[in-house]
Order: sequence, then structure tokens, then C-alpha cells
Amino acid sequence: MKKLIAGNWKMNGSVELACAVAAKLQENPSAGDNADILICPPSIYVSLIDSNVLLGAQDCSEHESGAYTGEISPSMIKDAGCSYVILGHSERRQYHGESSDLVARKASAANKSGLISIVCIGETLEQREAGRAQEVVGEQLAQSLPEGASSQNTVVAYEPVWAIGTGKTANSADVAEMHSFIRSELDGKVAGYNDVRILYGGSMKPANARELLATPNVDGGLIGGASLDAQQFIEIALAAGDN
Ligand code: 13P
Repeated sequence: MKKLIAGNWKMNGSVELACAVAAKLQENPSAGDNADILICPPSIYVSLIDSNVLLGAQDCSEHESGAYTGEISPSMIKDAGCSYVILGHSERRQYHGESSDLVARKASAANKSGLISIVCIGETLEQREAGRAQEVVGEQLAQSLPEGASSQNTVVAYEPVWAIGTGKTANSADVAEMHSFIRSELDGKVAGYNDVRILYGGSMKPANARELLATPNVDGGLIGGASLDAQQFIEIALAAGDN
């Protein structure tokens, strides 16, 4: 399966950065030869990235239109040229109180508008240390995936919360175990479960990307900090092509 290398800029960036990243990607077209490259900047910058990469948003409304100040609907995201939307990121779960039920409603709305939902799940350090990582991830997965989820409209991102922005990555044995568990949980629930891309996210960098991306059932990466540096992001995409 072709890997998906996705950059989540979170609430970072500027007009200058968006233009610089777009230019850098255009100078390095081979980065996309063996991996699909996706950038999810703050939505306001999407139109500045006129490169031949895929574009995505970091969240969407569960509603189609109406009096929801500050929200952006899936069809608007699609209309602006995006094909993906990240949903249920742990930062949204933590700081905006998003429940898995809400994530499933958003994913359903996104998929109906023709977007591919990147549904994020992951345990906290406390939950891992208590031996509950699989239980938590399994529960989030079951509750966050909408009716009709398939390999065509859904990507799963496993992001252990303790590895996000900390410089700590899960070791490849733990990643292999969790990704295999996620794959088995998709069996029977998601059409084409074997073809659903399962991304790893959490302090992925050029130095560890090759090993993480070579781990069984790791079909790409969701990259935060390193995606803000075009050179590092390209190196990760090239590492994906080696697998
Ligand atoms: P970092 O790569 O900065 O750890 O962030 C990972 C992440 O949260 C991507 O969604």
C-alpha cells in the first residue's frame, strides 16, 4: 500500500511559511513518487499551498451550513480544494472536550461531503502505564468511526498522547502491536479493513521515520513539528518511499 505522509501544522504557520513550503515541495517533486503527501495547515492558509500535494483541514463541523459562528463545514473544505480532514485529534479531545460520538458525527458529515476522514485515537501515558492502552484505543476506535466507514473514506491515525510533541516515540515493537490490534479491530466493522491506512503520529522525525514506517501495519505518518520544516518533511516522505 502506498504510504500517506501527512503534515498537521496545528495552530502554527504564516503566509510566509505556507508559500515557502509550497515552493520547496515544488522543487522536490520526487518526494511524492512513492508516498502520497498531504498538508493540513490552518484552513485559512489552504489556498496558498498551490503545490501538487494533497490538502486537508484539521477539523470540521458536523453541520452542513447555518448559524454556527466560527465553524467550517465539510463541503466548504472540499470546495476549497481539500480532500482530507483530521478529526478527533487528542488536542481537540483534550482542549475542546470532543467526545468519540462527536468525532463519529463529524466523520459521517465529512464522508458524505466526499472528504476522507483521518480519525485520531491514542492513549495517555497514565492509561498505558495502567496496562489499558489497547482497551482505550479499541473503545475510541469503535465509537469514533461512523456508519459506512470504509477504506475509501477513512484513515486511522494512532497517536499515543505521551509521544506528541515530546520527542518520545513509541518503540517499533509497541507500534507494531498496537497497529496490528487496530487492524484486527477494523475487521468486520470497516469495509476493506485490510486496505485502511493506519498512520503513526508522535514525534516522527527524519531520524526515526525509516524505522517507524517499516513497521508492519504502519501505512504512513501524521507529523506535527517536523512538518513545519519543509526539508524535514520531505526527508520523511523520501524515507516512506524506501519501504
Ligand atoms: P508531533 O510530530 O509534533 O509530535 O505531533 C504529532 C501530532 O500530533 C500530529 O497530529
